[in-house]
Amino acid sequence: MKKFPKQFLWGAAASAPQTEGAALVDGKSATTWDKWFDMHPEKFANQIGPRDTSNTYVQYLEDVQLMEDMSLNSYRTSISWARLLPDGKTLNQKAVDFYRAYFSEMNKKGIKPIVNLFHFDMPWWLMEKGGWENRESIEAFGYYAKVAFEQFGDLVQQWTTFNEPIVPAECGYLFEFHYPAVVDFKRAVQVGYNTLMAHVKAVEQFKENKHKGQIGVVLNLTPVLSKSERFEDMKAKEAADELYIKSFLDPVVLGRISPKLIALLKDNQLLPLTQEGDKERIAQATIDFLGVNYYQPKRVQAVENPSIPALMPSDLFADYDWPDKKINPYRGWEIYPKALFDIGMRIKNDYGNIPWYVSENGMGVAEEERFMNEEGIIQDDYRIEFVQDHLLELHKAIEQGSNCFGYHMWTFIDCWSWLNGYRNRYGFYRVDIEDGFKRIPKKSSFWMKEVIRNNAILKGEN
Ligand code: BG6
Repeated sequence: MKKFPKQFLWGAAASAPQTEGAALVDGKSATTWDKWFDMHPEKFANQIGPRDTSNTYVQYLEDVQLMEDMSLNSYRTSISWARLLPDGKTLNQKAVDFYRAYFSEMNKKGIKPIVNLFHFDMPWWLMEKGGWENRESIEAFGYYAKVAFEQFGDLVQQWTTFNEPIVPAECGYLFEFHYPAVVDFKRAVQVGYNTLMAHVKAVEQFKENKHKGQIGVVLNLTPVLSKSERFEDMKAKEAADELYIKSFLDPVVLGRISPKLIALLKDNQLLPLTQEGDKERIAQATIDFLGVNYYQPKRVQAVENPSIPALMPSDLFADYDWPDKKINPYRGWEIYPKALFDIGMRIKNDYGNIPWYVSENGMGVAEEERFMNEEGIIQDDYRIEFVQDHLLELHKAIEQGSNCFGYHMWTFIDCWSWLNGYRNRYGFYRVDIEDGFKRIPKKSSFWMKEVIRNNAILKGEN
């Protein structure tokens, strides 16, 4: 039996836009997702858009009951900025009532809410002003953070500013998966930088107002592995590591932007606009804890004929398709649990062993109804194996001194996945979108409940 530390947080993660539904109800204003769906519904799998997400706005009491049934002791979701402050200034009392009721119910049942402020859901009114490209968004986010801390600070002890702050920059300004779907490396870097400063602003608000609890951020740490030890491949690896890992990890934990990243951006004429004093503010705004989302590693190799200066990240490193990889064929992502051990050791050795937790890990599978038994329970043994293998690696890292305090699955109840709609399902519970958003436990929920009850995994117990 592999025991986990006392008071280990076991739970799951989700986000407001992917679960609440009620997208334009009770005063909530539109986000980029609502508008983009209106413009281009064909981009969204089965044309299921953000309005049809899993109805948690209505069914939250049932959801918290299911969390208790599974013995979760913690849960992360986010607040919708466009719901709380529909025009960026005016407080929406209905939103306050909803989130207070939701978080209070969790507390009542011994489920610690970890609350995130931004999960890819830019309010439309701010996008019209340029979104994260405009420094005005930093102040606007700071105000939103202040209001959220004031309204819910008595119910929430652990806050995170952003979920995967690099993703809107990458997916919105390089790879066309998020609005505004432009392709421009320099603009992507500016968006990333301003997002970092918005995070800094929120941390300042938290610290200046001496709020109770802790403040952190959730980063998708996608460990970079190179095809070989050859100098050119290792150079590609270093560039990917600077862009994908150190870009946010260094400033939020160490209080400074990596000098190698600055040199890389300078060499490629990609340096963002900054303001006097930013450097000092970054140095002061280090976090209390870190959330790490981990799904898959990034394998890279040297680029054959790169553009110089780089026009795209693919001019700095090329993807490497490792022939021996184990893959989740539905999402197309490699399954490589050992990376979780490596992440744990890197945080311990290079980042002052800051308290951290696995804030997302999971496996999205399509057409899961294929695996339903006669009682209607999905037999998701693949998910059990996935979680178990990752927990074993995490356990090893903890044994070797890594300061990890929890593990959250993505996700609790199947949720809406952006352009992928409800295609890939990740939940411990199935949601039946054709039958009143009915929630049905999967086999993995019973397995996980045992893990939580034992605070341990027993290899082979499924
Ligand atoms: C994480 C995000 O990166 O991955 C979630 O925080 C997302 O919002 C999850 O849903 C799974 O990825 P996808 O693209 O399959 O939904």
